[in-house]
Amino acid sequence: MRELRLEPVPVSDDLRAALTTAGLLVDDLDGFDRSYFACVDNDGRVIGYSGIETCEDDAVLLRSIVVLPAYRLQGYGRQLVELTVAKTSPSADIYLATTDAAPFFNPIGFVSVQRDEVPSPILSTRQLSGLCPASATIMRLNRPPT
Ligand SMILES: CC(C)(COP(=O)(O)OP(=O)(O)OC[C@H]1O[C@@H](n2cnc3c(N)ncnc32)[C@H](O)[C@@H]1OP(=O)(O)O)[C@@H](O)C(=O)NCCC(=O)NCCS
Repeated sequence: MRELRLEPVPVSDDLRAALTTAGLLVDDLDGFDRSYFACVDNDGRVIGYSGIETCEDDAVLLRSIVVLPAYRLQGYGRQLVELTVAKTSPSADIYLATTDAAPFFNPIGFVSVQRDEVPSPILSTRQLSGLCPASATIMRLNRPPT
């Protein structure tokens, strides 16, 4: 498996195209509190993208996680998520919403939570408050207290 690294990227046509092809949201990409990364291998090839939306109260929404179709099912998705989590504050509470990839996030340490367990800064994001279907699974990263 190739070694991967994350490089900060602006919202670009390539990012939008990767997310659109994967069926992920693109209507709420812009915002001062959002950062995006290209996941790049040793040869400079872009394997995928990820994003972080930083909310109040040390809460973070992990978003825009995509591995380009040619590179899927080779372990890169897990690496991408772990590298992206490493970009957040160790004390942050990390959430995500997914319509169909909960079984992918489970072994990485994310557990499903009910909406009434989710802090309001996360529920207030555009993704959770409107764009994402109400049936989406909300997950929280279970990690040891700091
Ligand atoms: C979800 C996604 C990021 C996974 O990337 P990937 O590189 O294929 O994942 P990995 O190869 O690291 O897979 C790790 C494990 O998860 C499993 N897995 C991968 N995608 C899965 C999915 N959608 N549902 C359930 N399990 C999945 C793999 O089979 C593998 O299992 P194993 O360890 O038993 O072999 C990728 O399929 C993708 O970009 N999907 C479209 C966008 C999306 O759904 N993003 C997540 C919501 S934000």
